[in-house]
Amino acid sequence: MAGPMNRTRQPRPTTKKCIAASLLAIVVVVVIIIIVWLALRPAKLHVSVDHAAVSRLNFTSGGSLDGTFDVTLRVYNRNKRAAVSYHSLEVGVWYEDVYLAGAVVPGFYQPPLNETRIDVAAPFVAEALPRGVEADVKRDRTSGVLPVEVHVRAKARFRYGMVKTRRYTVRASCQPVVVVFASPSSFDRVYCHVHI
Ligand SMILES: *[C@@H]1O[C@H](CO)[C@@H](O)[C@H](O)[C@H]1NC(C)=O
Ligand SMILES: *[C@@H]1O[C@H](CO)[C@@H](O)[C@H](O)[C@H]1NC(C)=O
Repeated sequence: MAGPMNRTRQPRPTTKKCIAASLLAIVVVVVIIIIVWLALRPAKLHVSVDHAAVSRLNFTSGGSLDGTFDVTLRVYNRNKRAAVSYHSLEVGVWYEDVYLAGAVVPGFYQPPLNETRIDVAAPFVAEALPRGVEADVKRDRTSGVLPVEVHVRAKARFRYGMVKTRRYTVRASCQPVVVVFASPSSFDRVYCHVHI
């Protein structure tokens, strides 16, 4: 008997149903993207400079600096659910708008509500400083206080369970970071302005 066979056969999906299903899928994807986007706020990452010191500073005959600028960064992922994976971090030290020292440190994975400290040893740039800047660095070293700005730039993805976001550029500006030569161990934490 052919009757029952015909009754159980599924009707072929119509073009209308296909379109409706596709639209629904698009809506679901858009809603997920919006939820992820809303959950991602720049304020959810905190960056601070917990310590900064110049471990060695020499002026070369060529007018450049020799030595290392040491920075300890603290990165706090305030997100309750999102983990962050940083690709790599570029750390730059600026003085009177001149790039003084810098280093690239390896990226890391940061679980939600995790705090990570990163020690960065940034060598001073090898190029000669502009004449006025060299004189100002010398003056500041003599007076014992060197005010700089520390800028951090990192590419990062946020992960909500299985969902990974695109790569964001996280920027942190920390200023003024003041190095006191006489007391290298003491330092007042500087909170950075974070922009994602
Ligand atoms: C400066 O360089 C000289 C020789 O390169 C070294 O002996 C000296 O310790 C350096 N000074 C500082 C403060 O690091
Ligand atoms: C933060 O995460 C890193 C890497 O997963 C881990 O080594 C470290 O202990 C964590 N720190 C805290 C305070 O939980």
